Amino acid sequence: MQIRRMGKEDIKQVCTIENKTFSHPWSDKSFLDAVNSEHDIYLVAEENDEILGYCGLWGIAGEGQITNVAVSEGHRNLGIARQMLEVLLHEARKDNLTDFTLEVRVSNAPAIHLYHKLGFVDAGIRKNFYEKPTEDAIIMWLRE
Ligand SMILES: CC(C)(COP(=O)(O)OP(=O)(O)OC[C@H]1O[C@@H](n2cnc3c(N)ncnc32)[C@H](O)[C@@H]1OP(=O)(O)O)[C@@H](O)C(=O)NCCC(=O)NCCS
Repeated sequence: MQIRRMGKEDIKQVCTIENKTFSHPWSDKSFLDAVNSEHDIYLVAEENDEILGYCGLWGIAGEGQITNVAVSEGHRNLGIARQMLEVLLHEARKDNLTDFTLEVRVSNAPAIHLYHKLGFVDAGIRKNFYEKPTEDAIIMWLRE
């Protein structure tokens, strides 16, 4: 498996995972904008031309807002998300991003566990942040 920058040619497979995973999926245009932005970092995990997962962040004023993390259903619990996020944070630090934030559904135990293992700490709750189903978000930060 290799972890590398997402390219335009990956977006079709990325959207297949995105649409299966989220009730408010990003459009292919959103991924295209992200891939084309010089301030953003989007990565895929790929094996034999199959995209197994992806993640990415927007870089703004020294901070990285992690917007997407997903692994296809048949490949979860193998450490793929952890490896992708470690590479993402490494690449971001090279771009002088020092502090990172994300939101996660309060019920998303695997993701919360993973972010805590990477050093993220809970910083607050956004009430009813998510729709379909309505749910609070935990705001997390990883600071230098
Ligand atoms: C969250 C997600 C990205 C994790 O990807 P992954 O590749 O399976 O993650 P990893 O294998 O690197 O790590 C998963 C960790 O969660 C743990 N885990 C799995 N199920 C769990 C559960 N129900 N409760 C607590 N921890 C759990 C695993 O044991 C593992 O931790 P460990 O390394 O200490 O054993 C993946 O489950 C996914 O795509 N979910 C749907 C999309 C999503 O929720 N994205 C996050 C949005 S904020």
